[in-house]
Amino acid sequence: MSNDPKGFRRNLTNYGDRDFALYLRRSFAQSTGLSRELMGRPIVGIAQTASGFNNCHRQVPELVEAVKRGVLRAGGLPLDFPTVSLGEVFLSPTSLMFRNLMSMDTEEMIRAQPMDAVVLIGGCDKTVPAQLMGAASADLPAIQLVTGPMLALPFRGERLGACTDCRRFWAKYRAGEVSDEGIDTIEANLATTAGTCAVMGTASTMACIAEALGMSLPDTAGIPAVHADRIRAAAAAGARAVERIATGGPRPSEIITEKSVENALRVLLAIGGSTNAIVHLTAVAGRRGIDIPLRRLNELSDETPVLVDLKPTGSNYMADFHFAGGMTALLWELRDLLHLDCMTVTGEPLGSRVREPAYVDRNVIRPRAEPFDPVGGLVALFGSLAPNGAILKRSAADARLFEREARAVVFDSLADLAARIDDPALDVTADDFLLLQNAGPTSETGMPEAGYLPIPKKLAATGIKDMVRISDARMSGTAYGTVVLHVSPDAASGGPLGLVRNGDRIRLSVKERRIDLLVDEAELARRRSGWRAPVPPKRGYRRLYADQVLQAEHGCDFGFLRGVD
Ligand code: FES
Repeated sequence: MSNDPKGFRRNLTNYGDRDFALYLRRSFAQSTGLSRELMGRPIVGIAQTASGFNNCHRQVPELVEAVKRGVLRAGGLPLDFPTVSLGEVFLSPTSLMFRNLMSMDTEEMIRAQPMDAVVLIGGCDKTVPAQLMGAASADLPAIQLVTGPMLALPFRGERLGACTDCRRFWAKYRAGEVSDEGIDTIEANLATTAGTCAVMGTASTMACIAEALGMSLPDTAGIPAVHADRIRAAAAAGARAVERIATGGPRPSEIITEKSVENALRVLLAIGGSTNAIVHLTAVAGRRGIDIPLRRLNELSDETPVLVDLKPTGSNYMADFHFAGGMTALLWELRDLLHLDCMTVTGEPLGSRVREPAYVDRNVIRPRAEPFDPVGGLVALFGSLAPNGAILKRSAADARLFEREARAVVFDSLADLAARIDDPALDVTADDFLLLQNAGPTSETGMPEAGYLPIPKKLAATGIKDMVRISDARMSGTAYGTVVLHVSPDAASGGPLGLVRNGDRIRLSVKERRIDLLVDEAELARRRSGWRAPVPPKRGYRRLYADQVLQAEHGCDFGFLRGVD
C-alpha cells in the first residue's frame, strides 16, 4: 500500500496552505451529510454516464447505487461524478468525434478529484473506449463496469434486437418488401429493454475486450442489462475497487500491456467482433505507449478461429452468448493462445479465472476443433489505395466478392452519396465497387459509420444484397457486407482514396491482403496537384479535433494524448 495521501487528503486544492485546503474541503463535504467516519475512508469515484440522450445507459442510476453499496460494505466512501456521455445515435456528425473529449473529461476528473480508485460505468459504443483511454492515462486503480446488452424479445415468431435486425428490415423496406406501416411497427420493437445493442456490435465487442484486457470483473461482459446479476456485478465492482486501494493496485499500467492487448485482439477475432473495436483498442493501447501494427493483426487473424455465433455474422444475441458459457467458455477455448500471466482488476492473473466452464451451449460457442470459421473475423488490407491499411470484416462479408477487379462508382462526400445513390439514372451495376470519399477521421464529418453504403435502390429492388463498398469511414458493428473500411490515409488528408475518379479500376484481393488503385502514377500526380485540404473549423473542440486527430491505424486519438508522461 503506497503512502500517498488517501481520501479527502488527496489532490488538495492549492491555496498555498494544505491544512486550510483540507479544512475547507471537509467543511463543504459536511454539507452533504457525511459523517466524520465516512469522510475518513478511502474514496472510490464512480464515473456515471446517465443521460437523457443515451438510452443505452438507462439503468446507470441503479448501477451507481449498487456500486455504492459494494463500496460502503467494503469500507470505502463512494462518490459518483458525471462525465460526458455519448449516446451513439444522438450525436452529430458522429459519436467518434467526441470519444476523445469524453476520454479527456474522464482522465482529468479522475486526476483532479480526491479519489483513490474509480469504477467506470459505460456501455454504449464510444463510452467504454473513452473510459478505458482516460483510465489508462490517469493510471489510478480502475474497474470497468458495462451496462450490459439489451434483450432480444419475441416479435411475430422471431426475436428482434438492435441493431442488425434494424438494418435487415431497413434493407427490406428499401427493396419494397416492407410497407410504411410495417417499418413503423418494426421500429417500435427493435430496442425494447435497457442496455446496449443486443448483438455483437461495438458495445458488446468492447465489453468483451475490456474483460479480456483484465479491466472488468470475470464473466461480466455479457450479463444482460436487466438481469439481477448485473446489479450484483456492480456491487462486486465497488467492493473490488476498495480492495484495489488497500493493495495499491494493480493500476491500468500494470494491466494494459503488450501481452494483454494481444489477448484482447485474440478475443476480438474469436468473437467476430466489430471493426470499430480495432480503432478503439489501438487508442486504448496507445495511451500506454503500445502500438498495434495492422500486419500483426493479420498474423493473429490467420491463427485465431471465430468461435462465437452472434449476429451480425451469425444468428444469436449477446445474452445468448452469456448464458451459453460467456467469456469463461471462450477464454477456456482460447487458453493456449492467451498470455495467462497478465494481471487483472481482481488482483490475480488472467490464468486464475481461465477454467473449464460448467456448461457450454455449442450452438453459440464452438470448440476449437469445430470453429465457425477457422480464421479470425477481421483482416487488414494494404496496397496503393490504402498504403497505411484498411480493414475488412471478412466474417460478415460475402466471400464470393473477395477476389475481383471492378469499376469504381465514386461519391465524393456523404452529401453526394445521399443525393445520388437512389437516382434511377445512376450508372451502376452489381459488379461495380461503390466508393465513398471524405468520410475519414480528418474530414469534417469525423469518420461516421457511413461505410455501409446502401445498395442503390434500383439494384436492391432486383434482389442485390451485397456489393463491394470502399471508404475511409467506419461501419457499425451491427452491420454486415463486403465493406472495406478505415482506408488510410483518408481522403481529407490527401490520401489516394481522394484521388479516385468515377470509372477508375480497383483490384481487391483478400487472399493477398491487397487493395490497389489501377491508375498510373503520372495521372495520380496530375490529380494530386489539384487537391486542396479542407478548411478547419475556426474555434472550440472541433478545431482541436481537426488539428490533432490521427489516422485510423493510430486509433483516431489525438497525438498529444498518446503515450505516457
Ligand atoms: Fe448504444 Fe448500440 S446504440 S450500444
